[in-house]
Amino acid sequence: MQGGVIVRALGEKDLSEAKRIFHVAFGTFLGLPNPMEFCADRDYVRTRYIADPSAAFGAEVDGKLVGSNFVANWGSVGFFGPLTIRPDYWDRGIAKRLLEPTMEIFTKWGTKHAGLFTFAHSPKHIGLYQRFGFWPRFLTVIMSAEVRPTEKIQGCTRYSELGDSERTVCLHDAAELTNAIYDGLDVGSEIRAIAAQGLGDTVLLSDSSGLGGFALCHCGADTEAGNDTCYIKFAATRPGKNAAQLFDRLLDICESFAASRHLKRIEAGMNLARQKAYRRMLARGFRTVFQGITMHKPNQPGYSRSSLYVIDDWR
Ligand SMILES: CC(C)(COP(=O)(O)OP(=O)(O)OC[C@H]1O[C@@H](n2cnc3c(N)ncnc32)[C@H](O)[C@@H]1OP(=O)(O)O)[C@@H](O)C(=O)NCCC(=O)NCCS
Repeated sequence: MQGGVIVRALGEKDLSEAKRIFHVAFGTFLGLPNPMEFCADRDYVRTRYIADPSAAFGAEVDGKLVGSNFVANWGSVGFFGPLTIRPDYWDRGIAKRLLEPTMEIFTKWGTKHAGLFTFAHSPKHIGLYQRFGFWPRFLTVIMSAEVRPTEKIQGCTRYSELGDSERTVCLHDAAELTNAIYDGLDVGSEIRAIAAQGLGDTVLLSDSSGLGGFALCHCGADTEAGNDTCYIKFAATRPGKNAAQLFDRLLDICESFAASRHLKRIEAGMNLARQKAYRRMLARGFRTVFQGITMHKPNQPGYSRSSLYVIDDWR
């Protein structure tokens, strides 16, 4: 089988089929009666492709697309997914083939810490990624909380409100903040993708020392959030003695932002190695909806450490 598989760059023309395979692959794995209903209101394929077409790969057999994978460049950190193969082509080595250019692009980018989010209960998933040097570490939970009616909060801005030069400063400050969390971590590509594709907004929290925290929010259908939901794809507060207070304030701002968009729920991922941040979210009423595991290469914590107030899940 491996000989008949062509792994190549994904193209615009592949996107509808790649999206169909995404829904059907996850829906089949999870045993849904109608697999196409898996995350029907969300989009990962088109949005990630548009964000960086050079980091999207497809697998083809007999001229037909049978799978795809997407890679994200967060500076010194990189992760991949969704990786999906058409169910009638499972267990023929196609995911392994798609992981080859994935590992090559990490090398090209100089990624220092690579990772992924997967199903903790699946020997196949864990075994597949272990072959490529990834190691399972902490559970990563996807949490959800209702949006309560809130008043508009002062002292926060949104990336969409900034002019071009202010945006440049903001991207610089955000990179400086994440660099203090993990050397070289930079989610600027995601901030730009949200703005360019109108997926939501990035909310910014300032204090007397400058940028204290920020949160990248996807909003509603056809983003990574889905109907009625504000999904915090990444959030972080400046490390140090005020990090916990800043984190609480940042979550207030996210809630106020979600309310302003008439969204009902906030969804956010949390690596359980970040105990303090996880406990703060529990205390605020967030509850786990489901959980998976992040796998890391090398087998090191990266920025999943107990003192850091970071939200993300690498899905
Ligand atoms: C998970 C998925 C991408 C795998 O694709 P695939 O093309 O079937 O995978 P491959 O055939 O390339 O990989 C097979 C490898 O899995 C691993 N594997 C399979 N069963 C295993 C087991 N019981 N124990 C350990 N490793 C196992 C092995 O490494 C195997 O390769 P080997 O036989 O040469 O050792 C595919 O099943 C899929 O699309 N699933 C639904 C969506 C999904 O879960 N995506 C991934 C989310 S992280």
